[in-house]
Amino acid sequence: MRRSLPPLILLLALLALPGCVALIEPSAAHVHWTDHRRPGTTQAELDEARTLYLAVCTECHRVRSPLRYEPGEWTWAINRMLAGEDVRIEPAVIDAVALYLSAASALPDAKAVEAYLETHPELAAP
Ligand code: HEC
Repeated sequence: MRRSLPPLILLLALLALPGCVALIEPSAAHVHWTDHRRPGTTQAELDEARTLYLAVCTECHRVRSPLRYEPGEWTWAINRMLAGEDVRIEPAVIDAVALYLSAASALPDAKAVEAYLETHPELAAP
């Protein structure tokens, strides 16, 4: 029998990904917010982390809103999962995903980003 499982899984993943959680795309405000906590953070790093979050962290459960935890709680929340469940994920992936989720929790939508930019006028384009 021909196995057509991978395309089916792919289709299910595509259907499940958007869910009902709007995952903000990292912006200059997110990079700035993160850079204060992790100097040297780049836009590309945060973009990649968001992609990783969608690819790796939806394997077993739905995408969780960044707002589920406070920015400072995400690393703890993920480590708690790793301690309690049979889940093995590369430390570098955990690290990147936690950084994205923290920034997205701090600045979850366009309104939050706008407010952040107002208090950081140096980020505005010249
Ligand atoms: C191999 C399967 C698997 C993968 C991959 C996985 N998880 Fe989980 N996760 C679980 C299970 C099982 C639970 C416990 C049941 C539940 O809450 O759905 C859990 C629970 C959690 C919880 C605690 C419950 C909650 O909703 O607050 C968080 C947070 C979480 N996962 C985040 C992540 C993140 C972030 C990633 C990617 C880095 C990830 N998970 C990848 C299996 C997985």
